[in-house]
Amino acid sequence: MKELIEKLRAKAIEELASSDDIEALRIKYLGKKGELTALLRGMGSVSPEERPKIGQMVNEMREYLEQAIDKKKTELAEAALEAKLAAQTLDVTVPGKEIPVGRRHPLAQTERTMRDVFVGLGFTVAEGPEVEYDYYNFEALNLPKNHPARDTQDTFYITDNILLRSQTSPVQVRVMENKKPPIRIISPGRVYRADPADASHSPIFHQLEGLCVDKGITMSDLKGVLELFAKRMFGENTRVRFRPHHFPFTEPSAEVDVSCFVCGGKGCRLCKGEGWIEILGAGMVHPFVLSNCGIDPEEYSGFAFGVGIERVAMITLGIDDMRLLYENDERFLSQF
Ligand code: DAH
Repeated sequence: MKELIEKLRAKAIEELASSDDIEALRIKYLGKKGELTALLRGMGSVSPEERPKIGQMVNEMREYLEQAIDKKKTELAEAALEAKLAAQTLDVTVPGKEIPVGRRHPLAQTERTMRDVFVGLGFTVAEGPEVEYDYYNFEALNLPKNHPARDTQDTFYITDNILLRSQTSPVQVRVMENKKPPIRIISPGRVYRADPADASHSPIFHQLEGLCVDKGITMSDLKGVLELFAKRMFGENTRVRFRPHHFPFTEPSAEVDVSCFVCGGKGCRLCKGEGWIEILGAGMVHPFVLSNCGIDPEEYSGFAFGVGIERVAMITLGIDDMRLLYENDERFLSQF
């Protein structure tokens, strides 16, 4: 009997060492139909003197096996946890996955930069509708029906009197109707013209209008503001040139050029050999427009200007075809 117990112990130890299926081993040795139970059944053949001794041995063996099985169980659980942790280690030195981040459209970037210059000078931003009355877009701006200057601003008509605004200048009228001087506003926004799209035209484009009305405003105020704007946008060495022009809503009117910031005025591809780049229209608000809006031209004067945002974006960012700005091609947009 003793030998049987020893043998069983040795077998159990060996199997415990070589197998991971401890539940099966537990059943095999300690279960109701297990080997130990079978041993106990054989107690009948043991002499009564030896019985307590053998009984004790069997109990010791049971205890031993129970402990060994528990120990192995813990070991296995620990090993499993360790393996799991090892498999899950986070290598913080591995480069992360790049998350694509969007960016502002080059037109929006340009508009913001322009806007910031004027906001820094105390201008506030005013808005007006894109679907506009003929009155605000033309009539109140001294462009009566049949005025030839309307030809250059042919637009899309909703009715005879409602159209898609061809310029941001109608915002001037809307602001002056509602607010008495001092007025200092800019108005960036979308405008429309019946022009087929090509490298320098689009039926939809953007302008930024400026308006300043107060007592004693002169052309030198206009020049100072635009010179500062030009330096901020195109570089500190930029010079500004005013050329006489005609706009029905300003008198006098000017077209404003900036010295070419690529060649500094010598003449290059960007300025087409001119040394100057035309960027905007401006002038002193026409007395007719002021009185149309209920502002006395004897008491107040003002200047106004209108800049094409596409034009500024194209020359500052080096874009040679306006259509690129509307195609939303990621390969183009991601360059800015
Ligand atoms: N609205 C004019 C255009 O679209 C630009 C312009 C010229 C605006 C002179 C003005 C201005 O405010 O005073 O061509």
